[in-house]
Amino acid sequence: MAERLPPEIIARIRNNPKLFLTELKNALASGTGNFLLTLIDKKRPLPDRETKPELTPLASNRGYVIDNHNYELRLSPDAEAALHSMAEELQKNGMRLYVRSAYRDYAAQNLLYQNAVKTYGQAAADRESARSGASQHHTGNACDFSLPGQKSYDDFTSSQQYRWLSEHAWEYGWSNSYPAGCEEITGYRPESWHWRYLGKPAAKLERDWFTSGGQSIQQLMLEFMCRWQNP
Ligand code: DAL
Repeated sequence: MAERLPPEIIARIRNNPKLFLTELKNALASGTGNFLLTLIDKKRPLPDRETKPELTPLASNRGYVIDNHNYELRLSPDAEAALHSMAEELQKNGMRLYVRSAYRDYAAQNLLYQNAVKTYGQAAADRESARSGASQHHTGNACDFSLPGQKSYDDFTSSQQYRWLSEHAWEYGWSNSYPAGCEEITGYRPESWHWRYLGKPAAKLERDWFTSGGQSIQQLMLEFMCRWQNP
């Protein structure tokens, strides 16, 4: 995983450091509490396995469609509110946003990971499933979107919802965590369906400054913030 920024991003920051600092500080100030900007990846699982975020249930009258009836889906209140606004906007544009997964506790994540290992083997499982304690889903700020009757999550990549989200989700504070072409940086194969709520200031910061090769990269921003706060 990357610990250094690509030259394109460094040059952008060097070109206008004052504006960058203002936007960085603004984003950091907005991200205290509820794991909004907490860096969680293969190297940095959550330190406290008992951590429980504040959660609210997803509801069927909030614009999105709940595409999982095995258990109650929940998100942090801020993430749910932003999802509600975003799903309503998608609806105005003739699309529905289906939510298959949201908050997952450690036991649920462990089950998913172990199932992935059994089905695909350890190496393939580690490319697409976080180990228990290391998933963004533990924060209550991450969602997996889906399509009705999909054969695989990968179907989402060619959907009109994904195209819309790629252009507009940042306006609602959402960011795609594992974009295509970034496996060496994120540690995971592309997941067009996995989105994390960062809040509007941080999602804008990611898009304006942490873009390389035409792709904004959440992992690079969160790593940068982590180093900035813990030099
Ligand atoms: N699919 C992502 C990496 C997770 O399991 O959290």
